[in-house]
Amino acid sequence: MAKKILLSGIKPTGSPHLGNYIGMIQPALDLANNHEEYLTLLFIADYHALNTIRDGAKMRSYTYDMAATMLALGLNPENMAFFRQSDIPEVFELTTILSAVTPKGLMNRAHAYKAAIAKNTEKGEQDIDAGINMGLYTYPLLMASDILLYNSDVVPVGKDQIQHVEFARDIAGSFNYLFGNVLKLPEYFVKETAASIPGLDGQKMSKSYGNTIPIFEESNKLRKLIMRIVTDSKLPEEPKNPEESTIFHIYREFATAEQTAELKSMYENGGLGYGAAKEMLFELMIKRLEEPKRKYDEYIKNTAELDKVLNAGADRARSIASKTIQKVRKKIGVN
Ligand code: ADP
Ligand code: TRP
Repeated sequence: MAKKILLSGIKPTGSPHLGNYIGMIQPALDLANNHEEYLTLLFIADYHALNTIRDGAKMRSYTYDMAATMLALGLNPENMAFFRQSDIPEVFELTTILSAVTPKGLMNRAHAYKAAIAKNTEKGEQDIDAGINMGLYTYPLLMASDILLYNSDVVPVGKDQIQHVEFARDIAGSFNYLFGNVLKLPEYFVKETAASIPGLDGQKMSKSYGNTIPIFEESNKLRKLIMRIVTDSKLPEEPKNPEESTIFHIYREFATAEQTAELKSMYENGGLGYGAAKEMLFELMIKRLEEPKRKYDEYIKNTAELDKVLNAGADRARSIASKTIQKVRKKIGVN
């Protein structure tokens, strides 16, 4: 039986953080490594990152950083395609084609665009589109193209990306309605407990909010960051709700089921201060990330090897992409 396609992308916009790891990287790698029924495609979305990274040297180094991180965390390039978005020209051709069947109003409804407009309105800008470029506006279109080009069945992402996957379905629907059934409608996969990991200040962890804990932070700094996680002002002896605690949310992603159950009951029974819980989180993270960190340090020194992996991945991805684009071209009558 043909394997199902599992696809996800991540932007090289800075050091990957625990929100990225728990929300997307870990679930995607888990599906890729433990489910024979999937063929996995994972890519570095550099052309999405171009909206914010305006420095070639930075783009290059963030791309290597992301590649080294994924490999260090257990991505096995032998059993999947791991590649750069920019290495697949077909994705840009499909973007142009899909733009002809995508209502402008759909882009107007995108969360990121609406947030940018709301910010301008709040600032009292004359032009609500001030500072917003077309790359941000058509971001969901490029992403739909990423997804549809490879006939993706499942797209593992964090909660904030659900709308984009729904847009990809809508766009595929419009194309298929006009030209016949060519594009596959994808489903998103959001890991329930990891949908939105809070950051240091309690709001969603995100590079844009400056509240992140990088995955491979050096141990002294990691300890300091963990100690900065905001908590409520409950005293050590008071019972606490683990579900409301950022410390617990992160801890359970690194812990065994027993360790999680143990920390949960310590919260609920009272007697555990937040300082002590942070110490437990720090110890656990150091232990779990020690080996990946060592691998990361190796990979990041060897960019030639990273290029080799990404190039081989691009070859695999292109073999799927070129088939889809051929079918699409035929349907629209350009060859
Ligand atoms: P950032 O918000 O830091 O810029 P990205 O937008 O690059 O992160 O997100 C990359 C992937 O990681 C996406 O699939 C996204 O949904 C997921 N992700 C990012 N932050 C979180 C978070 N705090 N909790 C869960 N998933 C997250
Ligand atoms: N927009 C995604 C993010 O910000 C990255 C991305 C680009 C992506 N293309 C994709 C994710 C296709 C899944 C599928 O995280």
